[in-house]
Order: sequence, then structure tokens, then C-alpha cells
Amino acid sequence: MITIHPERGTLTRVLEGREETHSFDTPEAFEIISDLWLRCGWDTKYVYSFRWFGRPVIQLPEDLIRIQEVIYAIKPDVIIETGVAHGGSLIFYATLCKAMEKGRVVGIDIEIRPHNRKAIEAHELFPYITLIEGSSVDSAIVNRVRELIKPGETVLILLDSNHTKAHVLSELQAYAPLVSPGSYIVATDGIMEQVVGAPRTKPEWEWDNPRRAALDFVAGNSDFVIEEPPFPFNEGAIRDRVTYWPDAFIRRI
Ligand SMILES: C[S@@+](CC[C@H](N)C(=O)[O-])C[C@H]1O[C@@H](n2cnc3c(N)ncnc32)[C@H](O)[C@@H]1O
Repeated sequence: MITIHPERGTLTRVLEGREETHSFDTPEAFEIISDLWLRCGWDTKYVYSFRWFGRPVIQLPEDLIRIQEVIYAIKPDVIIETGVAHGGSLIFYATLCKAMEKGRVVGIDIEIRPHNRKAIEAHELFPYITLIEGSSVDSAIVNRVRELIKPGETVLILLDSNHTKAHVLSELQAYAPLVSPGSYIVATDGIMEQVVGAPRTKPEWEWDNPRRAALDFVAGNSDFVIEEPPFPFNEGAIRDRVTYWPDAFIRRI
């Protein structure tokens, strides 16, 4: 149970019979309130309320700002994303490529609906984007993606398609070899584990989720580690991301 006292600037939580009080100026209070906010946002479908340069983007804005920090630091030649949907995240990465005057974007989706394809292809940033239709784990699709990368190019990959553990693990096995040393393959949406019991969830999400795939993958691949990208600017007390992507950043050593 959590009791929030805005007038005192504190919150009190009872956890396993123990009561703890945290002042609002502590990372502990921020984390507890953030977790509640994430859960409330899940239940209300908050992430389904944004567009980026005209296209719906199904991401928590916090995650978009953080991945922007990573992209600006790495300045990849190629950004690959599995899971296109309406194309908003591809357009987001393309915006950064245009602003940096570096990079291009490859998006893979098992089904690119005609109205989405038409809108993405008509977008002013489409010259930065290649769309590939097919399952991300189909070897012919993986080969097509590989052929789009030139030797020596820096590659960053985001996995945002089917979020079962088995699928994400297959994607990690197929795409991780394409990631450049120092760059990341990002297994998004590990939030699933945290929202079990909420609307539109399944009990098996407790283990059947991208975070568990990421943990298994790094356990068997010593040249990859789960590593939080450092905050490039931080004059505050918070050190942890507020995110739908816990333990998502898998860095190639
Ligand atoms: C969460 S949405 C992607 C959201 C998008 N990245 C964004 O930020 O707006 C997931 C997408 O994954 C696609 N998908 C599901 N299974 C897939 C598979 N096996 N291969 C590729 N894409 C798949 C779905 O068709 C859907 O469009």
C-alpha cells in the first residue's frame, strides 16, 4: 500500500509488513511514483497518444529521448528496427539522421498495412528509410537486411516486433552479429513483466517477455552485456531510466 502526502512532500509505502517513508526529493520516492505512473499509463494506453512528424509512434516519450541520446553518441550509419506499425519510430530515427547528416533507417514488419506504407512512402523523410516486409526471423529477411550494411558501417538495432521471449531470442541470435562493437541491440518493452495483472496482459508475461530473452542471450554470449547507456547530462539525483525498456540495452563489447 502506498500513501502519498503532497502537502508534506513524502510518501509512505507498506512493503512486506514494513512501513517506509520517502521524501519527494529522493530517488526512492521518484522510482515508486514513476512505477505507479508507468502502470497507470499502461492501463490508460498513454503510449498510444503520440505522433512524430505526423506518424503515430507507439513509445513512451522518455524512451524516445533516451534512445536519441544513444543515437547522437553512437552516430550509427544504419539503424535497424523490427516492428514498424504506423512508422512513427522509423520517422523519429530518420529525423535524427537528417539532423546529424549521417545515417539511414531500415524497418522490418511482418505486415506493412497499405495505408501505413502509403503514408510512410509519402513522408518527406522517406528517402532515409528502407521498408522490408516479412517476418524478422525469416532467414531470407535477415539476409536482405545484412546486404544493406556495407563493411565497416556502425549499426544500431532495435527489436520492437513480436515480444514473446522465444521470438526476441531468435531475433537476438539473428541480428546481434550485425551490431558493431560498442553499439547496442535494444530489446524493447520488457515492461510486460512489470504490468502482469493489468488490462491486456497475460500471466505468462512474468517470464515470457523481451527482458528475459535479453538476460538469456547475454548469459550465452560473452561478447554482449546488458549495459545502461550513461545519462550524458545529469545534474539531478535520478540515475535510472523511467522506461518501458528495462534491461533492454545489450551492448556489443
Ligand atoms: C509494437 S508495434 C511496433 C511499433 C513501432 N516500432 C513504433 O514505435 O511505433 C509491433 C509491430 O511488430 C510487427 N510484428 C509482429 N510480429 C512480427 C514478426 N514476426 N516480424 C516482424 N514484425 C512483426 C507487427 O505487425 C507490429 O506492426
